[in-house]
Amino acid sequence: MLRRLHPEQPESFAFTPANQAWAEGQITKYPEGREASAIIPLLWRAQEQEGWLTRPAIEHVAEMLDMAYIRALEVASFYFMFQLQPTGSVAHVQVCGTTTCMICGAEDLIAVCKDKISPKAHGISADGKLSWEEVECLGSCANAPMAQIGKDYYEDLTAEGFAQLLDDLVAGKVPVPGPQNGRYASEAADGPTNLKDHVEGRAQYNASVARAVEIGDTVKRIDGTEVPLLTPWLKDGTPQARDKAQVEPAGEEPAPTERTVPEPAGAVATPETRPEGLDAPRDGQADDLKLIKGVGPKLEELLNSLGFYHFDQIAGWTEAEIHWVDQNLEGFKGRVTRDEWVSQAKLLAAGEETDFARKAKDEGIYDDD
Ligand code: FES
Repeated sequence: MLRRLHPEQPESFAFTPANQAWAEGQITKYPEGREASAIIPLLWRAQEQEGWLTRPAIEHVAEMLDMAYIRALEVASFYFMFQLQPTGSVAHVQVCGTTTCMICGAEDLIAVCKDKISPKAHGISADGKLSWEEVECLGSCANAPMAQIGKDYYEDLTAEGFAQLLDDLVAGKVPVPGPQNGRYASEAADGPTNLKDHVEGRAQYNASVARAVEIGDTVKRIDGTEVPLLTPWLKDGTPQARDKAQVEPAGEEPAPTERTVPEPAGAVATPETRPEGLDAPRDGQADDLKLIKGVGPKLEELLNSLGFYHFDQIAGWTEAEIHWVDQNLEGFKGRVTRDEWVSQAKLLAAGEETDFARKAKDEGIYDDD
């Protein structure tokens, strides 16, 4: 496919102040003289800001990195993730057309795109809200056919369901990503054939979908308002560091590996949803919470400090309570959902054993936080 700059280009480009600060911070990741290495994140941020990569944006990034324009254009035109033409204001839909998806109905999905969005790939719908293209395998072949919309995957699609999904997006809704046919994850079509002890009491969504729902930015473009736009490898002298210093007292920097996420719409992390805790373990005998996969010594200590000592306490957490705990696991946010503690705790509270608990007991292996 010939990738050229779009014939119609805006006059100029400038990062928003927050994005400019972020971009300047990214450049500091690289040694002096190697600043050009920051080109991919900077081009990507420019695309996130505008929806597509304009010539002025490419030139602006090239100037920031002290590169020849042609070198920046080479990068922008080489990688298909860069959109060199305008995209829909709500979402750009990327339908996988590779073998597995093709066998499972990708052509029907593409027909829907042609019908509802534009007869040709990279065209924009009449209302300007959607655009589409066919892409190569997105690595979700077990859930074919599928499409990436914004940042998330919609899988196990049918033409009818996909059409409805596009209608919903146009109407301002954001359908829950993941399998669209009732499948939980990528288990066999007739149901799971292994890990069956994970089925009962499992979280509402698989980990990827739960994360997508939690972040809630499927079709939202990065616009610099996100928290954090940090450069944790820098201690001073950058706009980010200065901003951060104003809102966070020194010494309370979050772990660099931990991502702080904004509260999702309708967040339920209120005091009312805190699960009831105990002052001390019943009969002075706490359960070994490290038998729950994902709970190591540090997390066990943290759980105890929150008043949770027993499997049956964790087994009884409601969705709202899970959310509260997930948000209050300092440095380990999201672990309850990610590792499905509640379903594990239900089995352990009932006197059964999970594969992990059995192995942990036999071999003394515990999750290391
Ligand atoms: Fe479509 Fe792999 S073939 S995701």
